[in-house]
Formats: sequence, structure tokens, C-alpha cells
Amino acid sequence: MRVLVIGSGAREHAIAWKFSQSRRIAGLFALPGNAGTQEIAVNIGGISTDDFDGILDACRKNRINTVFVGPETPLAKGIADFLENAGIPVIGPKKRAAMLESSKAYAKDFLHRHGIPTALSVEFDDPEEFKGYIEENDGKEVFVIKKSGLAGGKGVLVTDSRREAIDFGLNILSDDRLIVEEYLEGFEVSIFVLSDGKHQSILPPCSDFKKAHDGDKGPNTGGMGSICPVPWVDTKLRKNITDRIVKPVFRALEEEGITYTGILYFGLMITEDGPKVLEFNVRLGDPETQVLLPLIENDIGNLSDAIINGNLDTITVKVKDSSALGVVVAADGYPGSYRKGIEVESLPRCPRTGGEEVLVFHSSTVRDESGRILTGGGRCFTVVGLGRDTITAAATAYQAVEEVKFQGAWYRRDIGKKFFVD
Ligand code: AMP
Ligand code: GLY
Repeated sequence: MRVLVIGSGAREHAIAWKFSQSRRIAGLFALPGNAGTQEIAVNIGGISTDDFDGILDACRKNRINTVFVGPETPLAKGIADFLENAGIPVIGPKKRAAMLESSKAYAKDFLHRHGIPTALSVEFDDPEEFKGYIEENDGKEVFVIKKSGLAGGKGVLVTDSRREAIDFGLNILSDDRLIVEEYLEGFEVSIFVLSDGKHQSILPPCSDFKKAHDGDKGPNTGGMGSICPVPWVDTKLRKNITDRIVKPVFRALEEEGITYTGILYFGLMITEDGPKVLEFNVRLGDPETQVLLPLIENDIGNLSDAIINGNLDTITVKVKDSSALGVVVAADGYPGSYRKGIEVESLPRCPRTGGEEVLVFHSSTVRDESGRILTGGGRCFTVVGLGRDTITAAATAYQAVEEVKFQGAWYRRDIGKKFFVD
């Protein structure tokens, strides 16, 4: 197999790392990749992830026969349709199926239409009607406002301020539709499902820590840490998620004539009434991938082939009997404005002298001519610790994360903690 991974985040570094361990690999490429993928793959520079002609050209030049798409934007723009028309198999859904993420209005209609558990919601495209609804809605204490289209994680506001809700919503309505949703209480879980169009395989549950500060305080981020599996998700809850959410969603897709290939991400809120869908993503999550993939024993080359060839039913996904915990190291100022190009002074030594298992995944880093690693984004690294349980994995990750040094580097100190101290 000659594989191209599209994207530059720590998620894509983890995907490339998993492919680098495959016995099937005869060529591994990343576009654009980062300083981490550069160690294990060939980075292809100078082509944007939106430039489908450029990507096809690079695929042909490098005899690439499998493309794994990390981020949602190229999928929403139809990269899977485009490359597959040109005869190159893609891990990722076609444009129509990608609407489950690219249009929250579509996703909500789909869920309501098929009676799949989700928050009650109303859709608006008229500013006056929206404003009237919020002003008159005296019963609500918390407002959840969502932009329908892609917003890179900045399209949702949860607030108890009517004023803030109106300002956020009116801003969205200048060029998109919005959804006002019932506020759900509970804990969040991310479920990833592999699909070859006919068969599905559910991966172990993950949890992502979205708030910037300890104790789940502060602004929303792309995710400041993650764990896998989630100790609170027991066998009974897993069955509930499978029977009430995952199976009905794939049945509904089939009924609507939508063939879903790739990975479907279910963002769930586990409420007192059971699991409910908060959102779909049509790709792997970041930072969930960094803790999920190290626990999968299967060769990712075999899993990818099965997704492409429609025989996922012949493969049993094997999961290690251990836990992984990831801590994201961010740049000063993130999730607000931050500087790029900061020199990274040190990274954790791997392998560890004590034998602990640590993995370091880069996000958007670059290596300059003199060999220095420079930061390139707001979330710069994910340091993952593996261990027999979440507590051990946390101790390992937190010991290693201290060795990440660059000016202004910071991270949350309580990733995973609520699952073992609550
Ligand atoms: P989404 O992109 O739809 O997953 O929303 C981003 C985040 O906002 C979620 O991960 C939740 O933390 C929060 N959120 C979204 N919808 C709701 C809801 N209906 N009730 C409570 N929190 C929500
Ligand atoms: N961790 C959230 C996401 O990937 O969308």
C-alpha cells in the first residue's frame, strides 16, 4: 500500500504513525504533514488541502493508492468524490454523506426524521423571528445556539445570557442558518465507527476535554486532552449506545440511499434519559485519535483495505487491555490569538528509561533549515501516556509533558481526573 494522509494536526500525525507500523506499507506520505510526520513519512509541501487537482497530481506522481483524509473541510468539499472518480480509494465519506457534519440543520432534520435521540431544536434563518423567539422564551435558563455550517469548532455558544445568545445568533444569520437547541445535562462521550458502506465496527469510547481551563472552566477549544476508554461507559451503556444510536443511524442512512464509507464520529451527551446525539463529525476526532489509535491492535492497513473493499465484517477489531491519556500542550494565548514560529527547546525522550509508554504527536510544527522545531498552531503537541488504567496513563503522560518546553507552553493539569475522583 502507498498511503497519503491529508492534514497537519496531531490527529494526522497519529494516523501516519499508525500506518508507519503497518506491515502493508510500501510508501507513506503526508500533505502537508508536520515536523512529526516528517520523521516517519514524506511530507508533500506546496499543495493546499483544498487543491484537489494538485492532490491528484501528487497521488499519481507518488503512485499513492489509498488516501486517508484527516480534516472535515476537504470531505465537505467533495475530495472523496473527486479522487474516487479518478480511481483513487479514499478513507472518508463522499460529499453528500459529509453533510452530516457540514450542515447541522441537515443533521438535526435527519435525526428528528428518524426518531433518533437528540436535543429538541428549532431552526431559524430570519433574524427577527430568531430574536423574538429568544426574547419570549422565558422558561429557558441556558441557551444553546449553533451555526449550521462548518465553523472550525467556533460555531456553538452555550450561555445563560439572552443578550449574548442574540448577538451570537444575529452574527451567524448574516450568512448562514442557525439552530437553537435544548440544553442537555450529562457527560460527553465520543464514539467512532468504521463503516465500509454495509458493515460497521464500533471503536472503544473516548472522551475529549473541550474547555481551556482546569475544572472544565473557560472558553471552548478544539480539545485540550483526551482519554480512551472512558471508565464510566460500562457494557450496558455501550449496548445502549449501539442499539439506540449507532444502529438506527446507519439504518436511517441506508433508508435514505446514503452509502457511508470511512469513519463516523458520534458526539454524544449521556443524559439521565440515556445517550443523545449532540453532533456528527465525518472524520476522526482531535485529540481523541491520539489516544484511540495506540490502543487498536489491528494493522491499520488491513482496516483501511476492509473499508475500501466492503469486507469489514471479516475483521474483528482487537483492542489492547490498557488505557491511554493525552495532554495537549498549547501556545500562549490559545484559544484566542497566539504567536507561531516559537522555537521548541525540548520534547519528551521516547522510549522512556523507566519503560513507560509515551507518544508525542506534533500539530502544525515545522523544522527550519538549521533543524530547529518551530510551533505552527495554537495546539502544538499531544503527549500520550499508556498504562494499565486511566490513573497510570495519567501519571505517565503528566511526567512526560513537563519535558515539552517552548516559550509560553501551557496545558491542563486535570485531564481524565473527573473520571477517577468524582
Ligand atoms: P457541537 O459542535 O454541536 O458538539 O457542540 C460543541 C460543544 O457544545 C459540545 O461538545 C458540548 O460541550 C456543547 N453542547 C452542544 N450542544 C449542547 C446541548 N444541546 N446541550 C449542552 N451542551 C451542548
Ligand atoms: N475533539 C473534537 C473534534 O475533533 O471535533
